[in-house]
Amino acid sequence: MSTLLLAQATHRLLKLLPPEEAHSVGLRLLRYARPSRLGPPDSLALKTWLGELQPPIGLAAGFDKTGACVAELASLGFGYIVAGSVTLRPRSGNRKPRIVRRRGEALVNAMGLPNPGVEAFSTNLVGTAPSAGVPVVASIAGSNPEEILRCYERLRGVVSAVEVNLSSPSLEDAQRIWSEPEFKILVDWLDSSKWCPLALKIPPLAREDLRKLVLRAVEVWADNGMDCITAVNTLPVKEERLSTGFGGLSGRPLNPYMVETLKEVRRIVDGGCAINAVGGIFTGDDAIRAFRLGASTVQIYTALAYRGPLAARKIVTEMSRALARMGAHRLEEILP
Ligand SMILES: Cc1cc2nc3c(=O)[nH]c(=O)nc-3n(C[C@H](O)[C@H](O)[C@H](O)COP(=O)(O)O)c2cc1C
Repeated sequence: MSTLLLAQATHRLLKLLPPEEAHSVGLRLLRYARPSRLGPPDSLALKTWLGELQPPIGLAAGFDKTGACVAELASLGFGYIVAGSVTLRPRSGNRKPRIVRRRGEALVNAMGLPNPGVEAFSTNLVGTAPSAGVPVVASIAGSNPEEILRCYERLRGVVSAVEVNLSSPSLEDAQRIWSEPEFKILVDWLDSSKWCPLALKIPPLAREDLRKLVLRAVEVWADNGMDCITAVNTLPVKEERLSTGFGGLSGRPLNPYMVETLKEVRRIVDGGCAINAVGGIFTGDDAIRAFRLGASTVQIYTALAYRGPLAARKIVTEMSRALARMGAHRLEEILP
């Protein structure tokens, strides 16, 4: 059976399972039936904050929380993989159910950052990242600057870059984390021990009380010569089917929030820092729009749940068609 047919059949069966089970069965199957890596078209190659990516489409944080499957996931057609988020010590996360599907091609999750802790995560990546064939980025999280810095130090030399996640709905006390004195301490510490490109992952600019703090943090991040902003994480919403009663919304309904945040961030960093766009990117047209708004890479997560394991390859094909329609030969020709 061809890779495409096998992927379609598997995806149809996985959709019958609850989403968290579908995810873990899907990851296990991928270990046994890894598709052969296809060379994406040269027209989509782009110089980015992670070097040249082909294609500039990444797997967003949260899909491979242990760093054990980065090579298998890269074979799905990604130009880079973000593994994690990982914290200093292992976390079991929230009680199940902690992820549900929602109408409109969306998910709501309250995973609570389950992960094996930075020690085991980094041991996994020492074994897996070299065979991924694409840059592997570690997403790190913590509730204070010291925890984040210790994770960062532990990953030295293991990954190509690090994304600092201060935006998971399950991180307590977001107000304090984003407030200027504490954020500046984190940036100064990261700056003085910087060994790789660094991205900051921000929430959608939906909460009025956080908006100003996050935008100020983006300014401080860029002014300190950091490399990239990843916009956005999930949007906090109520969801009674989850054990917590609330969670983070991802997928199509997040896309307008991502677009608004991308425009604001671009205005603030004004070319001083790269931007990864993530949030409801499902199709080649969604990706092209994000690139035209100033993104230097895009990332996807929920599209895999709805379009199947070959979502990144489908987006590549659709982007190539969209470029041809626009009369462009290369992605870089249509960048702002
Ligand atoms: C089940 C699930 C778990 C996630 N875990 C993380 C995480 O650990 N760290 C993080 O930075 N983002 C996490 N995210 C957010 C995604 O990386 C991404 O920012 C968000 O889902 C929006 O993209 P999408 O609409 O393409 O899914 C998670 C998302 C989902 C659906």
